[in-house]
Amino acid sequence: MPRRIVIASNRVPMPKERAAATGGLTVAVRDAMPRRRKLWFGWSGRTTARETQSLPSIARAGWAELATIDLTESDYRGFYLGFANSTLWPLLHYRTGVAEYRRSDLERYLAVNEAFARALVPLLDPDDLVWVHDYHLIPMGAALRALGVRRPLGFFLHVPFPPPEVFGVLPHYERLLRALDAYDVIGVQTPRDAAHINQAMSSVAVAPRADAFPVGIDPAGFAALARRAAVGRDSERLHQSLAGRALVLGVDRLDYSKGLPQRFRGFAALLQRFPEHRLAVTMLQIAPVSRSDVVQYRTLRRELDELAGRINGEHAEFDWIPLRYLTRGMARQTVAGFYRYARVGLVTPLRDGMNLVAKEYVAAQDPEDPGILVLSRFAGAAEDMPGALIINPFDPDETAEALHVALTMGREERQSRWREMMAAVERTSAAAWAQGFLARLEAAAPARVPEAVC
Ligand code: F6P
Repeated sequence: MPRRIVIASNRVPMPKERAAATGGLTVAVRDAMPRRRKLWFGWSGRTTARETQSLPSIARAGWAELATIDLTESDYRGFYLGFANSTLWPLLHYRTGVAEYRRSDLERYLAVNEAFARALVPLLDPDDLVWVHDYHLIPMGAALRALGVRRPLGFFLHVPFPPPEVFGVLPHYERLLRALDAYDVIGVQTPRDAAHINQAMSSVAVAPRADAFPVGIDPAGFAALARRAAVGRDSERLHQSLAGRALVLGVDRLDYSKGLPQRFRGFAALLQRFPEHRLAVTMLQIAPVSRSDVVQYRTLRRELDELAGRINGEHAEFDWIPLRYLTRGMARQTVAGFYRYARVGLVTPLRDGMNLVAKEYVAAQDPEDPGILVLSRFAGAAEDMPGALIINPFDPDETAEALHVALTMGREERQSRWREMMAAVERTSAAAWAQGFLARLEAAAPARVPEAVC
């Protein structure tokens, strides 16, 4: 019988949230190993007034056993809002100017990782494969080792890893790099990320061992979902509301790494520079609010509210609103139907680990009449998406030109571009990602010294 996989990640998809888009990590992990026995361990998404970590609560979802713990208020502030999302997130996305640092946040981050490890150890069986995910939990492997865990440990970073000079801006960055030594297998999204993290590890005398394992989706499953959803009620409502206009669609968490202001300006430049599209195109941006307790995210939301208002004020007609902008999440199924209907998928992050929206958009298309993906060269997905129109998202004029090309492209060219993209999406599926990583983890040296725990 295959060994049980123990997944540790900060965010765990709770059963009732299954339909919502909760970010690349949960989508990829959930779709990757449908038939493996899994224990998924992480944060419950709740805070507690108690100052001690609670014992994990266990729930059964169809696809995994879920073990979650609450964070205390100060953990939430120092670990999640602070070090993970105000320090590491911007730095890993190359945004040194946005990153903030407080030593107390680093201490809280290390303490929460230790608490996660302490809560997980009693749940481990001797044969489990342990796979830790993302930037929230970099030191969790070292914390598990300190508690006596000797089995192979894997780590996967879903976000980019910047050049060492950028990562080196982080005070005490060596501590995190040394903590990586606890892992037998380290995965990142692209060869560029692997080169960066390996260089950084070598610089603190840790043996480099990272490799690229591009994350993906379940292409056939998502295509089927999109086919069904495209004839559903929400797609029908969208269809009617567009009254024959072409749809340009963006779907992103409301995050400054996603390049939303630049994207809105790019769309405005399209209307200005290519007036033939006025009245003939509508852009829909779905941008569920995210991390709204972090000040930069609130500032971004205000900026987008203002920008969307200005663009519509300047360009709208009494019977046409060019930009529809929603800050709430939508069911995955509804979004799948919208992708299939969209003439253009607009995915323009300033920096992104992979970006699964790009892959979902491609998988959702009708092969007979597919739409076109406009994709930032700074998304990991761009490294393997030959058929997309690749742009630099910092230049709104370039976005406008690509939108014009996409909106006027003939069916044959769209079909041949789609075939190339779909082949890449199928090759780099969620299943291929997990199989590749887990095969490497299973092959890792079983135990450095006899197992002291479990
Ligand atoms: O996929 C990248 C990621 O940062 C995940 O680690 C995270 O869970 C997700 O995006 C959504 O962010 P958050 O958990 O902060 O809502």
